[in-house]
Amino acid sequence: MGSGGREHALAWKLAQSDRCEELHAAPGNPGIASLGRCHPIHAEDGEGLLAFCGNNDIDLAVIGPDAPVVAGVGDQLRHAGIAVFGPSADAARIEGSKTFAKDVMDAAGVPTAERLPVARVPCVVKADGLAAGKGVFVCTTQAELDEGLRAAAALGDSLVIEELLEGEEVSLFAICDGRNAVALAPAQDFKRVGDGDVGPNTGGMGSYSPVPGVGDAETQELLETMHKPVLAELARRGSPFVGLLYGGLMLTPDGPRVLEFNARFGDPETQSILPRLDGDLLEALHGAATGDVGDGIGAGPDAAVTVVIAAPDYPQAGDTGTPIEGVENAEADGALVFHAGTAVRDGGLVTNGGRILNVTATGKDVSGARAKAYAAVDKISFPGMRYRTDIAARAEARVG
Ligand code: AMP
Ligand code: GLY
Repeated sequence: MGSGGREHALAWKLAQSDRCEELHAAPGNPGIASLGRCHPIHAEDGEGLLAFCGNNDIDLAVIGPDAPVVAGVGDQLRHAGIAVFGPSADAARIEGSKTFAKDVMDAAGVPTAERLPVARVPCVVKADGLAAGKGVFVCTTQAELDEGLRAAAALGDSLVIEELLEGEEVSLFAICDGRNAVALAPAQDFKRVGDGDVGPNTGGMGSYSPVPGVGDAETQELLETMHKPVLAELARRGSPFVGLLYGGLMLTPDGPRVLEFNARFGDPETQSILPRLDGDLLEALHGAATGDVGDGIGAGPDAAVTVVIAAPDYPQAGDTGTPIEGVENAEADGALVFHAGTAVRDGGLVTNGGRILNVTATGKDVSGARAKAYAAVDKISFPGMRYRTDIAARAEARVG
């Protein structure tokens, strides 16, 4: 379910499994259409999906975005006996409600940003509910704090004020079966629209994996101290989490802290993580959905870098109907081009959204992957296309 770059990457990886007989997407996108069959069913249309799964003998449903999770689509399909990789709406409150997440983390003893009794700079103001990334205000000046409090109040939810944490951010994904969890390789995301991390937050302008300083041992320790206690606490509360638990972590000088949990794969981190996997993702997701996540799924030694190509006015506005050139040339160079906001018109590929394409390349290190990804980006063009030129640049400087 879903239609973005994350879902294209998931479909691409799932289709590689020997156990994948048929791949269907609801609604999918033109990239996914080259891997399986796309159906005009909205990802939140529980009734439509239920009927579709029944009619097509679907053995495993994989939910991409958060909207169908929140809408209860996972619960609806699961009640009908379909194996679903994606949490119940109850368990997904770990993403949907900041206060619920804080309560769970406190009860589970998971290190997170401290809640502050009063709003005083520096601090972070968060609106409680899901706000599509727009509910978090990082405030280092009084003017930013005044504006943040005003903007958060305008969203109408209750507020959480917390300490401002500093350090490198890491996205760590865990595949969960309700009781156990296995980690995927860590990745880093670039949230701001402009080079040097300036401008408004976006859904994500690029990503890379692995992350310097977060090797297998560190990943395992983060899984044990962050994800597993939360999983145990959710199960204790009667809401076992089955799906992808995404820890947004800050590696501070005082140790790692959780910034947030999400109840789904991250976009565009997934596009950099999945090409590095050396196991069968379908088997892992099916195992998790049916109660046994198994022993884990490793990553190869290569690095991956993903550059998002967005519409000229993203994130304020998207673009539709503009012809896109050069995707085949980028692919011919060995890059993976995952579609996010594209459509086919008169047989040609055109823009259809905010984030348009993801260009992913792998290489023996971050430097090699980065050079290959940007060379492939250079092959693609449409009027006004925007992308960041510094994705993974800092990591390259750190590890070469
Ligand atoms: P969230 O939706 O809670 O992940 O917040 C979105 C982004 O805001 C994060 O990815 C961070 O870049 C930033 N952020 C959130 N909480 C904090 C915090 N306590 N300290 C510093 N930055 C934060
Ligand atoms: N890449 C950030 C997110 O998926 O929320």
